[in-house]
Amino acid sequence: MKLINSAYYGLNSKVTSLVRAIIMLGINTVKNLALSTAVLGNISSSSFQSLDLSGFWRHSLCVGVTARMIAKEIGISSQEIESYFIAGLLHDIGKIPLNNALAEMYIHAMSHSEHQGIPLVDSERHIFGFSHEEVGKLIAKSWKLGPEIYDALSFHHRPESYSGDYGQIVRAVAVSNYFANEFEFGFSGNRNPLPPQEEVFGELGISREWLEDLEEEVTAEIEKAKIFLKITD
Ligand SMILES: [Fe+2]
Ligand SMILES: [Fe+2]
Repeated sequence: MKLINSAYYGLNSKVTSLVRAIIMLGINTVKNLALSTAVLGNISSSSFQSLDLSGFWRHSLCVGVTARMIAKEIGISSQEIESYFIAGLLHDIGKIPLNNALAEMYIHAMSHSEHQGIPLVDSERHIFGFSHEEVGKLIAKSWKLGPEIYDALSFHHRPESYSGDYGQIVRAVAVSNYFANEFEFGFSGNRNPLPPQEEVFGELGISREWLEDLEEEVTAEIEKAKIFLKITD
């Protein structure tokens, strides 16, 4: 409820009942919000062994707010818009158990990526035999996040090879991730991001120029969205 009444939603009157919140935001949104705050609540600062905590969350918030702005731009219904934010916020969540449990190897994966000039996701596959996309998938499954979030987490580095029902959210997260890396909003360990193919922008219905103009707006949205991390303190 604290979240619903925060500046993030900019609602005019205070919402005090859960039923009212569900009417205003939709059951799916409320469910996803509750689940994602539960996921975030399970992560403590000690979970960050090789990744930088504040850089990671700034990157994640940037992808969340950017995906949400893309959703608005392409006319996604208000009932579904919040899934875009949640999928963006959680897209790299699979990195957390990896950097925590296998800290030394994760540092190695990051430096391998840097020295070889390859994306971190490919370096992870090389070092571990799997990547944070697969780990993210397991997390989405065990927390029963919606299927659209599951697919966005699983395919955010390869939207071109996705053929399921949730293409727009997968593409929006992939493009937002590229934007966050390109404009260096935070840092999630990847010095060699691969830009999505031009067709991904076309299918999504936005242009690269439109996206690149968002920089200032994204900065402001990140400030508002920080409430997501505060409520888990
Ligand atoms: Fe990623
Ligand atoms: Fe990312």
